[in-house]
Amino acid sequence: MKVILLGSGNTATVLAKMIVKAEHEVVQVWSRNFDHAKALAAKVRAQPIATLDELSGEADLCIMAVSDAAIPQLAKQLQLRRKVLVHTAGSVSRDVLRNSSPNYGVLYPLQSLRKEMLVIPPVPFLIDGNSDEVNALLEDFAHSLSDNVQFVDDAARLNMHLAAVMVSNFTNHLYALTEDYCKDRNLDFKLLHPLIIEVACRLTQGHAVDMQTGPARRGDEETIKKHLLLLEIDEHLQDLYRELSESIQKLYRKK
Ligand SMILES: NC(=O)c1ccc[n+]([C@@H]2O[C@H](COP(=O)([O-])OP(=O)(O)OC[C@H]3O[C@@H](n4cnc5c(N)ncnc54)[C@H](OP(=O)(O)O)[C@@H]3O)[C@@H](O)[C@H]2O)c1
Repeated sequence: MKVILLGSGNTATVLAKMIVKAEHEVVQVWSRNFDHAKALAAKVRAQPIATLDELSGEADLCIMAVSDAAIPQLAKQLQLRRKVLVHTAGSVSRDVLRNSSPNYGVLYPLQSLRKEMLVIPPVPFLIDGNSDEVNALLEDFAHSLSDNVQFVDDAARLNMHLAAVMVSNFTNHLYALTEDYCKDRNLDFKLLHPLIIEVACRLTQGHAVDMQTGPARRGDEETIKKHLLLLEIDEHLQDLYRELSESIQKLYRKK
């Protein structure tokens, strides 16, 4: 398949690599900043373009991987005749593209993507086209990149995006706060890496609710008190610790 990429950030870069690996062709890369388009185009031997007037008529699929807020603005500047136009956002409606091409949809990669990634992890794709024809093309294309492809409409994709924020962005924020906590006390955060990996990997073997351990799960008020005392100098972390401990206790009281 011949693909055009609009955007040159984290998602466009990782998708470009996956697309080439799957033996499709990235024919052109456009980005708001032409230097960014040139840099990404060079990585996948594509033509960088500076304006949307230069879009190739040959491509089958045009992937708009730009910031969520930029999607409606960019959509207004596009008037495609036949090629399928998709965006890659979890929380943006499919129909923002309705006036930009007769064939449109969403190709949402349910993964945390960073351009610096050396190894591309498995990426589930949630897809949603505006017709059976578009769905068939998106299904074939997504399956060439991933073993895990599902049709998901706007409402379910938005819910899934929220779930992704909870398990990925929020846990990562806790890692960031904990890393700082360790640094302030001359503790080696890296000692916690095996624990982080073990707890995440366990999820493939069962339900999170059955895997919970720790003082809050055991109802160990003495230890919780000691920990909260240690956090007296950091009100924000103390509040978070208290809130999360109460949330764990509430969940198991209900059961
Ligand atoms: N990264 C992820 O983990 C991830 C996962 C799933 C879905 N997504 C979705 O993928 C899309 C892109 O996210 P990203 O993570 O790749 O973002 P990003 O790394 O911040 O890149 C943003 C891209 O949007 C372009 N852009 C920003 N404002 C623009 C505007 N006003 N007009 C035109 N282009 C503009 C930037 O162009 P320049 O660099 O040329 O300025 C850049 O190419 C978003 O819809 C996001 O929700 C991201």
